[in-house]
Amino acid sequence: MSETIQVSPLKSITGELAVPGDKSISHRAAILAGLSNGSCFVENFLSSEDCVNTLRAMAQLGVSYEVKKGTDELPVDLVIHGCGGELQAPAGELDCGNSGTGMRLLSGVLAAQKFDSVLIGDDSLSSRPMGRIITPLAEMGAQFETKGAKPGCAPLHITGGELTPITYEMPMASAQVKSAILLAGLFAPGTTTVIQPAINRDHTERLLNSFGVSVETEGNTISIAGGQKVQAHDLVVPGDISSAAFWIVAAAAAPGSQLTISNVGLNPTRTALLDVLIRMGADIKVHLENEDGGEPRGRIEITGGRLQGTEVLRDEVPNLIDEVPILAVAGALAGGRMTIRNAAELRVKETDRIETTAKNLRLMGGEVEEFEDGMITVSYTHLTLPTIYSV
Ligand code: S3P
Repeated sequence: MSETIQVSPLKSITGELAVPGDKSISHRAAILAGLSNGSCFVENFLSSEDCVNTLRAMAQLGVSYEVKKGTDELPVDLVIHGCGGELQAPAGELDCGNSGTGMRLLSGVLAAQKFDSVLIGDDSLSSRPMGRIITPLAEMGAQFETKGAKPGCAPLHITGGELTPITYEMPMASAQVKSAILLAGLFAPGTTTVIQPAINRDHTERLLNSFGVSVETEGNTISIAGGQKVQAHDLVVPGDISSAAFWIVAAAAAPGSQLTISNVGLNPTRTALLDVLIRMGADIKVHLENEDGGEPRGRIEITGGRLQGTEVLRDEVPNLIDEVPILAVAGALAGGRMTIRNAAELRVKETDRIETTAKNLRLMGGEVEEFEDGMITVSYTHLTLPTIYSV
């Protein structure tokens, strides 16, 4: 069924808002609380289909939970009763829906179990590369079979078992791959080490530490000793800076705006968008307020103004990977040119985000040069909404 939504453009945005819970932290909270040795009260869980699928997968593996706020379909606050690391064989397939994070992180846990599991997903997820987790997890001793229409793609049949720790140099900066290996390493006797080509989101490391599992990080090298117990721990999930990003750019690029975003996650491996916008001339003030689960959070105040294009640095890319599309919009609204390269990973997300961003900006009259690993947007200060835009 198609629906028409009329959008009336605003000249500026004023007010205060809070965004829903962080997606990455919610997936990990479902998994770690589920593996823990007690009951964990998780507040502000992201009640999106992706995170709920991970929660349901954990329930199929023997974890129970009670919803305290929200509904079964859309839980917001919940108590997760951990299984003390003793998962049960699922009765059926585990459906990860649209979520690469869910499928890849769960694979790390399932690689170490004494039973077989099958992970499935929607058409988009069934065409995303799983070889990147299969290679290290198979090296640790798990067996994988991919039964998808595309080679190396889901459905994923996993025959888990006793794992051997490895030292693995990741070919790409991916938090999902890193997390899959660390979660498998939690069950392997000895020390598992991951070396990442660039710093990227470190929620798994921080949350494991807050759940009493010691994870050591030295530069780009992360190590976990297997056999540690996951200690039950309550957690308040901060707002998702990736959701806030749309508001931040809208306010920063619109003179006259005055916007405050409260209780938002400020983990430094997620805030590169703010650094780039500030370099573009944005007036953004960040107030760190507190920390929970090792995750800093606080308030962001944005005063609108005129932005100037910049070049996104190679090392910034992994720490703003989900924000590239909206950053490209900021570039199109700014003076000068905005260059985003070294972002080929965007081609293998839920959609090809380089192609779709360039296409949509052009639909609005923007000028975009597209590359295999990114794009250059040229200052176009009068973006216009197409009259009818189909989604
Ligand atoms: C995520 C990692 C990123 C990101 C995704 C969430 C995570 O993907 O794009 O939305 O929670 O670990 P990659 O690890 O593939 O870069």
